[in-house]
Amino acid sequence: KNIAIIMGGYSSEVEISLKSGAVVYKHLNKEKFNVFKVYILKDKWVLVDNENTEYPINKHDFSAEIAGKKITFDCVFNAIHGTPGEDGKILAYFDLIGIKHTSAPFYQMALTFNKRDTLSVVKQYGIPAATSVYINQGDQINEDEIINKVGLPCFVKPNNAGSSFGISKVHTKEELIPALDIAYAEDSEILIESFLDGTEVSVGVIQYKGETKVLPITEIVSENDFFDYEAKYEGKSQEITPARLTKKQEESVTKVSKQVYEILNMSGFSRSEYIFVNDVPHFLEMNTVPGLTEASILPQQANYAGITLTELFDNAIQMALN
Ligand code: DAL
Ligand code: MG
Repeated sequence: KNIAIIMGGYSSEVEISLKSGAVVYKHLNKEKFNVFKVYILKDKWVLVDNENTEYPINKHDFSAEIAGKKITFDCVFNAIHGTPGEDGKILAYFDLIGIKHTSAPFYQMALTFNKRDTLSVVKQYGIPAATSVYINQGDQINEDEIINKVGLPCFVKPNNAGSSFGISKVHTKEELIPALDIAYAEDSEILIESFLDGTEVSVGVIQYKGETKVLPITEIVSENDFFDYEAKYEGKSQEITPARLTKKQEESVTKVSKQVYEILNMSGFSRSEYIFVNDVPHFLEMNTVPGLTEASILPQQANYAGITLTELFDNAIQMALN
């Protein structure tokens, strides 16, 4: 079978995706599959070989031609964080042209990439979450009204983005407008959320050998004011797997994580964050193309569960092909 690992993307997360994709390439079993790297970038879609030679992708059927030979793909491994991978756009295209992929169906991907819409679905099922206000670029806003609703400190987040790009923690009313400008650089929609004070955990839920599997839970201890880009990628945090939770906390967050995965009709990879407020896990968001570098959280969780990266990625392809 020919497998294309797609990586890159059109968002601020491009460099992280290239790293995730490289890790997937390194660990996928090359005796079992013919594995190719495909960069999906704003200005080009190209297959890249080990000598870094680029071969253009034909968008009509997602094929490439190497030395006069046409290469087509049986399955795509989606390693694109942000658009057009994590928001489902490119997956709708693969559906249309009949290529299988490792992610959930495009609708689930589009839904879960939108923080507001994901929250509105899970809240309907009684899953606790922060109080939030949603605004669109150009909306008339009343700062006092927003702060009355969410309190201080609060978080300003681009509604559709990842890796904490564009997120600020706002401590005073004066910081609100500058924070909105930072978030608008990433997205035209913003979510302002109340600050939840408690232990933050990250929970990987995947489809493994046909079952929904909750991986060992990771506790996040940020050295910065919150789990921002620097904390995530420049070592300014501790990620502790398994999390130091009480039995009761572990059971409740395991149960709710599985429930959220099922409510959202998910398949494939996911990693969600929760904050415990008085022992009750509050849902923050779901990442459907979680970071896959060796230092990323989900690979650490898989390792702790005794699943090697080769097994993890192999399973994703098997699930997609079935
Ligand atoms: N958006 C990053 C890659 C993550 O969730 O891991
Ligand atoms: Mg995220």
